[in-house]
Amino acid sequence: MKVMVTGAAGYIGQPLTEMLHTEGHEVLGVDIRPAQHTTEGDIRDLPDHLFEGVDSIVHLAGVSFAPEWTDADDIIWDANVEGVRRVLDQAEQAGVRRFVLASSASIFEGRSDDLARVDTRPRPVSAYGRSKACAERVVTASAIPQKVALRKGTLCGLGPNPRLDLVLNQMSLNAVRKGKVFVDGTGDNHRPMLRLSRTVRNYFHFATTEVPDGSHFFNICDDNVTVVGIAKGVCQLTGAELVHREYTGRPRSYVMRNEATAGLPLPPEEPIGIDGMVAEVVAEMQAEIDRLPQVSTDPRLDRLEEINRDLR
Ligand SMILES: NC(=O)c1ccc[n+]([C@@H]2O[C@H](COP(=O)([O-])OP(=O)(O)OC[C@H]3O[C@@H](n4cnc5c(N)ncnc54)[C@H](O)[C@@H]3O)[C@@H](O)[C@H]2O)c1
Repeated sequence: MKVMVTGAAGYIGQPLTEMLHTEGHEVLGVDIRPAQHTTEGDIRDLPDHLFEGVDSIVHLAGVSFAPEWTDADDIIWDANVEGVRRVLDQAEQAGVRRFVLASSASIFEGRSDDLARVDTRPRPVSAYGRSKACAERVVTASAIPQKVALRKGTLCGLGPNPRLDLVLNQMSLNAVRKGKVFVDGTGDNHRPMLRLSRTVRNYFHFATTEVPDGSHFFNICDDNVTVVGIAKGVCQLTGAELVHREYTGRPRSYVMRNEATAGLPLPPEEPIGIDGMVAEVVAEMQAEIDRLPQVSTDPRLDRLEEINRDLR
């Protein structure tokens, strides 16, 4: 099969393109940053010929996290909504049959009372959450026959291009490097957590497997847990000290149940609990600490700066 992966240089994109390539598929990565199996290009302005002969698209490109700073709202909207619209238009013209959207559990922000289900009404709070909910609507309205939205929890695990701003990755890094784990405020806000390895296998599955015509939604997470619960797990395993930092912002809190649109099975995969995820990530961190870059106390700041630079 010929699979286009947008955002191919990213945290999920790199291991996914590698897996597709290893399994004998023709991979066409697209990203504003260079990477293996990847053509450099902006999703908002790709040449039409790139879409020729493409069977399926996994659309990962965009602003991939929810900064609390409102000055990023226009950048998020442009990349995450207009970018999707543009890629879909070109895919439709080229007769691409399947489109897999990287959606997010963030569309359920503000719902930590009950586990969000696939048909739970999204109630996004941040510009990021709103952009993902809107991108889902744009995809649903497109004429592409097979449409899949993967709503993923917060990922963890290193992979070839680790994201150190993700909560468990960041806590493990600080535990191993500084002997401290920081929690902003009480940390009693919830997160649905998900392994990178499982995510990559799920995207591989949908990139290469037919689904019935129509729009299909998948809520995917390994475990729902409080931020302070994650921190305690990391401290217990590493002996690091738990440090609460003063926090006046709005903590993001949401929980989600593993579920697929009625009639469709979830890709076969057993969820693992938070203890399993903490053990996996801490072990990876201890093994790879020397290759990881130094990051500031808040790696999201570095990340926003990087995104601003790349997208303007
Ligand atoms: N990592 C998570 O916890 C998580 C959870 C839920 C959803 N998601 C979504 O999954 C997708 C991938 O996430 P990730 O963690 O790999 O993020 P990432 O930031 O590592 O990768 C995104 C990639 O998109 C590229 N990109 C951004 N704008 C682009 C543009 N205009 N044109 C071309 N390329 C562009 C970036 O250069 C980057 O390589 C994102 O859409 C993200 O919102 C991620």
